[in-house]
Amino acid sequence: MPDSIRSTPHAAAVQAGTASNRPGPGPIAAVQALAAGEMAEVNALIRRRLDSDVALIRQISEHIVAAGGKRLRPMLAVIAARALGYTGSAHHQLAAIVEFIHTSTLLHDDVVDESDMRRGRKTANALWGNAPSVLVGDFLYSRSFQLMVELDSMPVMRVLADTTNRIAEGEVLQLLHIGNPDTTEADYLRVIECKTAVLFAAATRLGGVLAGATPAQEQALQDYGMHLGLAFQVADDLLDYTADAATLGKNLGDDLAEGKATLPLIHALAHAAPAERARLAAIVAAGELDALAEVQQAIRASGGLEASARLAHRHADAASAALDALPANAWTDALRTLAAYAVERES
Ligand code: IPE
Ligand code: IPE
Ligand code: MG
Ligand code: MG
Repeated sequence: MPDSIRSTPHAAAVQAGTASNRPGPGPIAAVQALAAGEMAEVNALIRRRLDSDVALIRQISEHIVAAGGKRLRPMLAVIAARALGYTGSAHHQLAAIVEFIHTSTLLHDDVVDESDMRRGRKTANALWGNAPSVLVGDFLYSRSFQLMVELDSMPVMRVLADTTNRIAEGEVLQLLHIGNPDTTEADYLRVIECKTAVLFAAATRLGGVLAGATPAQEQALQDYGMHLGLAFQVADDLLDYTADAATLGKNLGDDLAEGKATLPLIHALAHAAPAERARLAAIVAAGELDALAEVQQAIRASGGLEASARLAHRHADAASAALDALPANAWTDALRTLAAYAVERES
């Protein structure tokens, strides 16, 4: 591990994780190489389906899509399908659908969170304003439904309809907790399951559905995706306090600025002495970004980084364990590597 990684508090916390989900050198590069052909098809499909006669839609969607992003959810969909021996091409369309849903939620999320950096670029809301971002988010969201209908599969449609509905519930639930220092770990887990994990679970489960998975395999892929999504969001919330902003491609402290109590801060609040708790609670209630260094220090002192990293690793381990029900092959191995990556990533 390079010193630049070792020196971050996040990495120190992550090193406390279990050996079973710690990747070796360059494991993500190997997964990307395995899936490169598939992802080239998916990316071409995504670009093709961004088309619109309205120039502003093309501009904004190009802005966010061309910036890249990790394409993790579409990669999960195609890899899950291949793990079960799928040989068709509908999984490319499924992957594009999942990425369109994700991208639309990012456009909306950056408006709600008042974020001005994403994928290393200024956000669409910072460049064009809130209204165009929300409306182009709606365009991408409804485009994903057009792509779904083309797949002509009621099971796929049912899962994605339920998934998008739960994502919206998660976002609203989260809104209800903004500025609330009494947010519990259970509240937090409910929010992240809805806003993030269900889409991961849909991506992997539906990859399996396209491949004709048995009910047990479908359940395993659902469990894998759900645990992976939870691990991923817990890691994201840790990164919001610990990452290097340039590497992350997002600003640090967005959650605090928003008055969003995520796990590291919930842990610090729960373990603080009364006076310190009152101070932290006031900071959360006010969304006081100027107090970021103070909050980071309180989180570090409370062991909040390690506690978050432990939870992320537990879910990554559970994700890996679910894969035991799948055929053993290079694609299933790739899913295992991605579980480790979700919690070790720096961006
Ligand atoms: C960001 O997701 C939103 C979260 C659920 C934390 P990603 O970190 O996958 O975003 P991109 O697509 O790589 O930019
Ligand atoms: C993820 O939460 C939001 C979605 C699921 C859209 P965050 O607000 O933490 O995501 P980032 O950090 O802005 O990417
Ligand atoms: Mg956000
Ligand atoms: Mg975040």
